[in-house]
Amino acid sequence: MIHTAKFVISNPDVATCPQSNLPEYAFIGRSNVGKSSLINAICHNPKLAKTSQKPGKTLLINHFLVNEGADAWHLVDLPGYGFAQTGQKQRDKLRVMIDRYCLMRQQLVNLFVLIDCRHEPQKIDLEFMEWLGENEVPFSIVFTKADKVGKGRLSENIDNYKRTLLETWEELPTIFITSAEKKEGTEELVNYIESINADLGK
Ligand code: GTP
Ligand code: MG
Repeated sequence: MIHTAKFVISNPDVATCPQSNLPEYAFIGRSNVGKSSLINAICHNPKLAKTSQKPGKTLLINHFLVNEGADAWHLVDLPGYGFAQTGQKQRDKLRVMIDRYCLMRQQLVNLFVLIDCRHEPQKIDLEFMEWLGENEVPFSIVFTKADKVGKGRLSENIDNYKRTLLETWEELPTIFITSAEKKEGTEELVNYIESINADLGK
């Protein structure tokens, strides 16, 4: 259970991220997919991470401290990838920031790759997950904005996504279905993180 959540620091590069032994979990995905909103939903604080209707809001690596003492862990809000309007230079800069964080952050226990449940599988997300696989970065998939589609469409889209994944992956990753708006799937996410923490001896 999340008792407290506090902003710690924003960084432009993994090299300056907090030196700590806390297990760390990060949210990643396309710009505007709902990373910051989901962080706020699971922490029960709409003002914790900055959100926006316009893509490209989060531009740094943001650390949040969840709980204190023996139960403490870090939750990280990352910038989105692939936002066209920011221009190639900015896009490349963010991609380097994301890639370096994923590869070099030793405290990172699991990455949550957020996918908008309304869309067909997108090449950019599939390629990003393949890159994670090649680099042995553990990840789970979190479908977002589930409140924006009907139940039938939702399960159709998710089945379709799973089929697409199985074209390249032997096994499916852990999958969550969430709505930050309706606070759905948030408890499952937190339980999952806590179960990993328990396995780590936290
Ligand atoms: P960047 O920081 O730009 O990469 O975006 P982000 O992935 O952090 O997205 P953010 O949380 O800022 O949300 C983008 C927009 O989607 C905002 O207008 C949110 O209100 C909206 N949004 C996020 N999650 C949900 C959801 O579960 N349901 C609905 N209906 N809207 C959502
Ligand atoms: Mg954001």
